[in-house]
Amino acid sequence: MRILVVNGPNLNLLGKREPEIYGNATLWDIEKGLREKFPGVHLEFYQSNSEGAIIDTIQKAMGGAFDAAIINPGAYAHTSYAIRDAVSALKIPVVEVHLTNVHAREEFRHHSVIAPVCKGMIAGLGPAGYELAVRFLVGS
Ligand code: DQA
Repeated sequence: MRILVVNGPNLNLLGKREPEIYGNATLWDIEKGLREKFPGVHLEFYQSNSEGAIIDTIQKAMGGAFDAAIINPGAYAHTSYAIRDAVSALKIPVVEVHLTNVHAREEFRHHSVIAPVCKGMIAGLGPAGYELAVRFLVGS
């Protein structure tokens, strides 16, 4: 099982960025935790602050290198039709993950333009959301 894990803008700042909202775990902690929990799963992590670079990475996953993908698009979840189109073109299952409960936050975060083309969305469970997404994808 090969899973691509894509993290969008500002998620490289996890641990330093508004810890009262996003917690103290860094992206590296999340990656390390997943690798320890799923030694038999090939996990490839990618983070970028750029919309185009995220799309290029999703397009590379079209070549059959991955069986599934997890994406935390950051604020692009709420705005990026271009990332939505790239996800929509993927034939593998994709789970959208948000660390925070976007529905309990500012109005502009309540809607994801990407979630409708994903298999499902997990929000508000912190780093456990990534773990649950891997569990689901491994079993699907
Ligand atoms: C986020 C939620 C987004 O609204 C926000 O812009 C982020 C992080 C989350 O993981 O909770 O950057 O995707």
